[in-house]
Amino acid sequence: MSASVVFDVNGARVEAPRSAMRLTDFLRDRLSLTATKVGCESGDCGACTVLLDGEPICACMVPVGRLGGRRVETLEGLHASGEVAALQASFLRAGAAQCGICTPGMLVSAAALLRNEPRPTETQVKDALGGVLCRCTGYRSILAAVMTVDPSDEEGEAPPPAGKAVGHRLARVDGPRKVDGSEAFGADEPPEAALEIRIVRSPYHRAAFELGDLGAFVASHPGVVAAYAAADVPGRNRFGVIPSFADQPVFAEGEVRFRGEAVAMIVGDADAMASLDPSDLPIAWTELPAALSIDDAGTDGAPLIHPGREGNVLIRGLVQRGDLGPAFDGAVVEVEGRFETVFVEHAYIEPEAGSALRVGDRVEVRVTTQSPHMDRVELEAILGLPDGAVRIEPTAVGGGFGSKLDLSVQPYLALAAWKLERPVRLTYTRPESMASTTKRHPARMHARIGATRDGRLVAMDFLGEFDTGAYASWGPTVANRVPVHAGGPYRYDAYRARTVAVHTNGPPAGAFRGFGVPQSTIAQECLFDELADAVGMDRLEFRYKNALVAGQPTVTGQVFEAGVGFRDCLDALRPHWARAREAAVEANAIRGPARRRGFGLAGMWYGCGNTALPNPSTIRVGLRDDGRIILFQGAVDMGQGANTVLAQICADAIGVEVACIDLVGADTDVTPDAGKSSASRQTFVSGNAAFLAGSRLRSRLLVLADASEAAHLELDGPRLITRDRGTTRSLDLRTLFTGDDGMVATSSATYDPPTVALDANGQGEPYAQFGFGAHLAEVQVDLELGLVHLLRVTAAHDVGRAVNPTLIEGQIAGGVAQGIGMALMEEFVPGRNENLHDYLIPTIGDVPEVVCILVESGDPVGPYGAKGIGEHALVPTAPAILNAIRDAVGSGVRRLPATPDRVLAAIAAGAAR
Ligand code: FES
Repeated sequence: MSASVVFDVNGARVEAPRSAMRLTDFLRDRLSLTATKVGCESGDCGACTVLLDGEPICACMVPVGRLGGRRVETLEGLHASGEVAALQASFLRAGAAQCGICTPGMLVSAAALLRNEPRPTETQVKDALGGVLCRCTGYRSILAAVMTVDPSDEEGEAPPPAGKAVGHRLARVDGPRKVDGSEAFGADEPPEAALEIRIVRSPYHRAAFELGDLGAFVASHPGVVAAYAAADVPGRNRFGVIPSFADQPVFAEGEVRFRGEAVAMIVGDADAMASLDPSDLPIAWTELPAALSIDDAGTDGAPLIHPGREGNVLIRGLVQRGDLGPAFDGAVVEVEGRFETVFVEHAYIEPEAGSALRVGDRVEVRVTTQSPHMDRVELEAILGLPDGAVRIEPTAVGGGFGSKLDLSVQPYLALAAWKLERPVRLTYTRPESMASTTKRHPARMHARIGATRDGRLVAMDFLGEFDTGAYASWGPTVANRVPVHAGGPYRYDAYRARTVAVHTNGPPAGAFRGFGVPQSTIAQECLFDELADAVGMDRLEFRYKNALVAGQPTVTGQVFEAGVGFRDCLDALRPHWARAREAAVEANAIRGPARRRGFGLAGMWYGCGNTALPNPSTIRVGLRDDGRIILFQGAVDMGQGANTVLAQICADAIGVEVACIDLVGADTDVTPDAGKSSASRQTFVSGNAAFLAGSRLRSRLLVLADASEAAHLELDGPRLITRDRGTTRSLDLRTLFTGDDGMVATSSATYDPPTVALDANGQGEPYAQFGFGAHLAEVQVDLELGLVHLLRVTAAHDVGRAVNPTLIEGQIAGGVAQGIGMALMEEFVPGRNENLHDYLIPTIGDVPEVVCILVESGDPVGPYGAKGIGEHALVPTAPAILNAIRDAVGSGVRRLPATPDRVLAAIAAGAAR
């Protein structure tokens, strides 16, 4: 039998070894067809979908040795043939590609469907795309894109005219690369002959360990070139996103604090590493008792996870205003309750990945990250190198949602490249990614809320205990942000919110879309429904009556004179609320007793940016002598749309068409520090910097052209055309002096939101702007099986000004989908479900119609009045769903997720009352 097989890839004959090599590896590593993505290597995520003889299959599950005589098609082939041009245009128009990591799998699956069904139904699309997971979009835009393909439209919409980009549904400027498969993520395009890295991790939640002879291990394994552990870290063997709390070792020293913690790494050539089992590294383990819950961590005799953090308490947070005692005395009605949430995994489809190269006395790291400048500073400390010795070149980010703010692969890449002076690469496996990276904090919350007989809120007392896992990560941020937000966008006479972040031997809990606010909102908004019922008020009217309005102090004493659009959101939901009520009454009247329909509401607010801390962004922009405007923007776009939104804002500030702008994306050697992509800050903070930089550039161009402020600017190749008070002038940019960078004019601007530090009682001005919103969820509950069927979510958000409505709706729909997962199905259990087969996230069949309503209240400090939206959209979804379940069955679920067993328990508890 021949040692090779011959088959067809995108119309070309290829030869492959008759082996078990995965088709994904063959396509990516041998043919450089990297549009086929790898998300799990177990057939769960569908990112590697290709067509085999016309049928969609997961390439990671197919050995190339079986492909003799078969025909494989990838996105590259479908794109080159033009077959998917209209579908790609439809994706761009609908905003169906956010981060883009799932997009090739979606497009390939859709292409197969469209060959047979040019006008597919929603059911057909769901069936065809059901095997491909998306964590960003919430699927509805993808459904719409496939169902509305227009074969005559391969170009997309016309761009907005000069000065009119803000408010326009501009297709994302980086979209074409996402839909043609050329976008390069962390695992794509590694350097030539890169060595591979494997991390050796703890199989125990807590254990002491002793490493054996690493040198002997390397010598006895041909192809392995090095093994490193803590003693090999030349600088500081510690990292952490908040410098004063940095406590996580690159490699554990003598004791591991969570399952999945790194103790060593092995570096070798690809062939050697393919057959190597990292657990062969000689290590003597001694398992130790572990604290796996807040209760465990707080008991007498519990292991002290970090010396100096007594009681395993990392930090406490507090906001208090007014006097709780008299206020509760004045309450006629009170409710209280305890709520619990669990670890939630980010489950972005792109695992952590990157590559690194030593260049002289510097290290260059290409990596998927949300925070390039923070990464640079941390790596320089780890390597013991001076400022500027590390360069971070972020790749495209295939979803982050907060977890890619923390270091993951970076220290290992940088260390190996530095020591070996050879290029290296590292991609986490899915189980490794899930075991070792940060999670949403599990929370244990108790709240007590009082109101007067006529439904006026008087007091709230909240205590939230957050499991921050083995290391600090963003625990301090959660502990400080939650007390500000735990009361929601409402007025109280007296308020107290206390938090505590507690260490356990769980995975580090970090940032995940909302920094603890989605958890606390569950307690507050679910109790609000009980309180509204107790005072006999409509649940929407109860919220409306107590809603914060402009001119009133928040729980921190901050007063906003404008931009408080919460009541506008509730008003926008009124007709939907009335319709949902009618629909529920009607459905419940005609259905049998086994199924009940319910509807629920939840409100939210969210402060954009860091909590009462400096939070600057810097943006630079210049005009080159060829007439192109270059926007140096270092705000990482992980799918949320920063590239597009900042280009829209900057173009309008200059007064030119967006098409005149070329983007230079984040690179710590090239772009100024625009801060991290987190806390819903990029549209607001970097947007203001882009506006200021654009405005300054416009001023300089007007001086060059000797034109007035009112002049209309136009770029025609290398000519700057000004139309000013009836006079048209043309300036040849090539005749002007340029710097080394070819720029005839540049400008740079920094914006730092105005905040006031919180005092000991949490009083101050923690955020320069808040976004507001409210969600309405409609469900049907099977009373016998406990199954919750979500019928519709209607989401109203005050976004200040919608810079790009399509992108905002994408953020809302994606946030809703993650909120659905949090409410109904997601619970990460270390060691039990570290894969996408056992850890369930919403599929295309789980997300119902999502109606987005954009409320534009304007904002005095937002660019063009815009506010952030990235995290806001997830916050109210889970409590709205829980309230809808309670409305349907008469009793609430207080421990998430609301799985069928918990729904049945709630029904039984309600019946017993
Ligand atoms: Fe689907 Fe990011 S766009 S996973």
